[in-house]
Amino acid sequence: MCGIVGYIGEQNVVPILLNGLKRLEYRGYDSAGLAVLQDQNIKILKKVGKISILEKSLNMQKLKGYVGIGHTRWATHGEPNEVNAHPHTGNKEKLALVHNGIIENYEILKNELQLKGHIFKTETDSETLCHLFEEYIDNGYDFIEAVRIGLSRVEGTFGLVIMNADWPDLLIAARRGSPLVIGLGKGENYIASDAAPLVGHTTNVVYLEDGELAVVTKNDMKVKTINDEPVSKAVEVIDTDLGEIEKSGYPHFMLKEIMEQPQTMANTMRGRLLIKEGTTKLGGIGMDLESLLYARRVIITACGTSWHAALIGEYMLEELVGIPVEVEYASEFRYRDPVLGNDSVVIAISQSGETADTLAAIREAKRKRCKVFGICNVVGSTIARETDAGVYLHAGPEIGVASTKAFTSQVTVLALITLLLARMRSLSSARGIEIARELARIPEKVTKVLENHEQIKTIAEEFKNMRNFLYLGRGYNFPVALEGALKLKEISYIHAEGYPAAEMKHGPIALIDEDMPVVFIATKDSIYDKVISNIEEVRARKGKVIAVATEGDKEIAKRAHRVIYVPPTIEMLNPLVNIIPLQLLAYHIAVQRGCDVDQPRNLAKSVTVE
Ligand code: G6P
Repeated sequence: MCGIVGYIGEQNVVPILLNGLKRLEYRGYDSAGLAVLQDQNIKILKKVGKISILEKSLNMQKLKGYVGIGHTRWATHGEPNEVNAHPHTGNKEKLALVHNGIIENYEILKNELQLKGHIFKTETDSETLCHLFEEYIDNGYDFIEAVRIGLSRVEGTFGLVIMNADWPDLLIAARRGSPLVIGLGKGENYIASDAAPLVGHTTNVVYLEDGELAVVTKNDMKVKTINDEPVSKAVEVIDTDLGEIEKSGYPHFMLKEIMEQPQTMANTMRGRLLIKEGTTKLGGIGMDLESLLYARRVIITACGTSWHAALIGEYMLEELVGIPVEVEYASEFRYRDPVLGNDSVVIAISQSGETADTLAAIREAKRKRCKVFGICNVVGSTIARETDAGVYLHAGPEIGVASTKAFTSQVTVLALITLLLARMRSLSSARGIEIARELARIPEKVTKVLENHEQIKTIAEEFKNMRNFLYLGRGYNFPVALEGALKLKEISYIHAEGYPAAEMKHGPIALIDEDMPVVFIATKDSIYDKVISNIEEVRARKGKVIAVATEGDKEIAKRAHRVIYVPPTIEMLNPLVNIIPLQLLAYHIAVQRGCDVDQPRNLAKSVTVE
């Protein structure tokens, strides 16, 4: 949520900031801006809308410098207009700041500063910080101390980078709640919200922790806490390559990410599947496996698409391992008083590893003495670092705002964990081998579904003008229905709801008529016959049925308006195959409606505010 980038070095900062912002654009895209130190002055350029608009206006400005900061915004306080866009300045326009997060006590600070003569230009909470630091500088503090003392008075969350024309040789970065990573180059250093802007520039990075402040010059970087204690930081190495963060010939990141799923799922399983033993090996869980195995209760917490993966995990773990599992929205978990003890285990699932609610939920669980496991995609992310143990997805950077490949990798990881635990409990080796073999075949089956691309595009053409959709499934296919509906509404702005198929009779059936397409996820499983009855109920009310069905199923073809066939697999792995046509359907409908697929309105990839 909001992307930040900073640079200090010997290259012209403008293209570096611009490219960095483009790579962070998935974090927010309602306005963007740059501040560059040029001729001892801070020059600021801000624009409403995407980075491309900022880029176009740059052609008319002769902006050049060697120190600068940039921001792409997802508005929290103040409408997304040019004035409210970052970077912000104080009264004197000597100091410029970019901020991600929310300053909770900004009104109190603002009133205090206004009484001292500070004139505010924007409706944002972030501008308050500029005046606050400026006030301390005016009172004789040096820039670093002014920021440090100022921040100690701030309540709320921040990831911020600040520059000052009177201290032209340094940038200050500070973090509480919103991620920041520092990229170490030769004679140059970078600061960014995540590693994407650093790729191609440097592989050596330092992650700031909450409560830390970094002073970054072109040849050096020093970190201390906001309370003024020294901190020594480890340099970590990132191994993302450029191809992973580029579209590689696809029109959208979302399509690229859908199409790469056979590969990303194989990457998730690589080295972890022990087919002959019918089990898995998960190094990240290591010594903490026992607590998971003997947990009295497992709570899986997550948001959005990750929450849908969690539901599938619940079904798998209860069915095969026999541990009681509950799935909780992280936003609810963090403010409830859930009954937890040291025999409860919390699993947090998050693609980004930065979602504010999920992070708060794991902190709450740790306070209550639970072991906390993380399932994250972004290596080195806050959730990955704050959990006791965990499993990475290894799906590579996901840039399309609507999550696709992370979802299938999350479900894959949950299947790997389930298999490991089930085998340590009562699952037979024969059954374990069957599951492991079938997991290994999934990438090939997904490839087959992806070959149906053209057929799904035609179905999208037929239904693109509908105003509502219902997605129905039972058992393992119920979370698939939820995820299919979420994909459609996120990127095409068509109202879509997912329901357990049988629940349809308790409400949604009232909506069914010829203008209500109903997507049934109706692959062969133990409750297939029941789903067929639900399809009949829809047909009887003239609803148009689009069915996702198992190859060779002729019965469905008699009942559904359109059928998308998928290869058969075992019940617990059905979601991995069945979600693929629904991702493609949502994608094609959105493209045909002219929607901005990778950056849907009002959404952001990484929700780092509450
Ligand atoms: C946002 C994204 C979703 C994502 C959710 C949870 O809403 O748009 O795609 O599923 O956050 O994010 P996480 O990174 O925690 O999985």
